[in-house]
Amino acid sequence: MNELDSEIMIGQLANRGLTRTYSEDDADLLIYNTCSIRDLAERKVMGKLGQLGRGKKKNSIIGITGCMAMAKKESLFRKFPHLDFVVGTNNITDLNSVLDEVLYTDKQILKTDTKYEENLDYMIAKRDDNLKAYVSIIRGCDKFCTYCVVPYTRGQEVSRHPDSIVEECKKLVDDGYKEITLLGQNVNSYGKDKPEWNCLFHDLLYKLDQIKGLYRVRFMTSHPIDITEDLMYAIRDLPSLCDLIHFPIQAGSSRILRKMHRIYTKEQYLEKVAKIKEIIPNASLGTDIIVGFPTETEEEFLETYNVFKDIRYSVAFIYTYSPRKGTPAMRWKDNVPQEVKDDRLHRLMELYNQIGSEQRQEMLGSTVEVLVDRFNRDNEHLRGRTSCWKKVIFKGSENLIGTLQKIKIHSFSHQTLIGEIIK
Ligand code: 5AD
Ligand code: SF4
Repeated sequence: MNELDSEIMIGQLANRGLTRTYSEDDADLLIYNTCSIRDLAERKVMGKLGQLGRGKKKNSIIGITGCMAMAKKESLFRKFPHLDFVVGTNNITDLNSVLDEVLYTDKQILKTDTKYEENLDYMIAKRDDNLKAYVSIIRGCDKFCTYCVVPYTRGQEVSRHPDSIVEECKKLVDDGYKEITLLGQNVNSYGKDKPEWNCLFHDLLYKLDQIKGLYRVRFMTSHPIDITEDLMYAIRDLPSLCDLIHFPIQAGSSRILRKMHRIYTKEQYLEKVAKIKEIIPNASLGTDIIVGFPTETEEEFLETYNVFKDIRYSVAFIYTYSPRKGTPAMRWKDNVPQEVKDDRLHRLMELYNQIGSEQRQEMLGSTVEVLVDRFNRDNEHLRGRTSCWKKVIFKGSENLIGTLQKIKIHSFSHQTLIGEIIK
């Protein structure tokens, strides 16, 4: 979501004649679009801002946008007097007017509305990639998991009108894009806040599947409680829909899930997984997991471990718990020592890597469909991804970039599958 927000901001700045530089030293304007999800993300930006204040880049305009702007607001000006503006997640459309105010008044400007008004001009986003694009369909989150800062930094759920989404996707396809990832903190909630539109998430997918030339549609991310059978049938039946479903469990113990306010038990989660496997036998699953949540015991961690082993997730984002200011979990005693959290993370990562290598082994000799992205770093092979997000390289010519190719896998190196084109 932050990447897309950055692309929208870059588009706005391009409209006023600014050009993007990839070197900090060349920049007259520096914007840090920030994340608050874990402490490390915040600490990196705080370190960077401190460094800038110590004289490195005194003459540029410096702004903070994104979740840290929402979480810290004017306190950022007290800590970093050289900061020129702080703009929150719901105000990115105001970027140019904020910049004008900074230029003409020389004051520090703060804009952090708590509610998102649906007036963002998505069409001006300036994307780096020219085959794959992010498209926002719903912003904010109403779930309030007890560890998570997002409902406070991004506000309540607001769906975007389906006509606007379809219009943007059509334009992207006209511009040569082949794959679209629909974004939302919880895409499965799409449309529920606007019953008058009569368009839930799966309805939207049926509309997008009709766009000619759109090869692939992905989505990210979903809350297990909201995934419906209608959605499973859409994934099964629509050719454009990829078979990888991001389905974050967070923890494998029902007691921890209750403390996390995930509103499902381990058993309910596993029932949904069984349903997915029944309806879409080819589906692979992705997940997010937090280890070392306050009071998590070794046995409870092992429940997470064993669920992971049974489901054999093909994509996983695994984190140690990080207390976030303003969340309910922050008030609880975090009695799991950091070494224990790190050890659990390490064991789960080892399992994930082992499953990944077994999955690659199982794919030897099989044929997969790959959307060809670009030349690989070795400049010898082309590279692309399967529908399930596996990276594949193979020999071929430049004109294949942007096409779907059938590739027979013969080997792999580290995480990358290697194959050859089937004529
Ligand atoms: N500590 C660690 N991980 C977190 N996440 C969200 N909040 C925290 C936190 N306080 C993880 C969750 C979520 C992903 C985007 O980030 O797993 O799904
Ligand atoms: Fe955070 Fe996701 Fe829970 Fe929303 S559903 S509170 S974004 S972890």
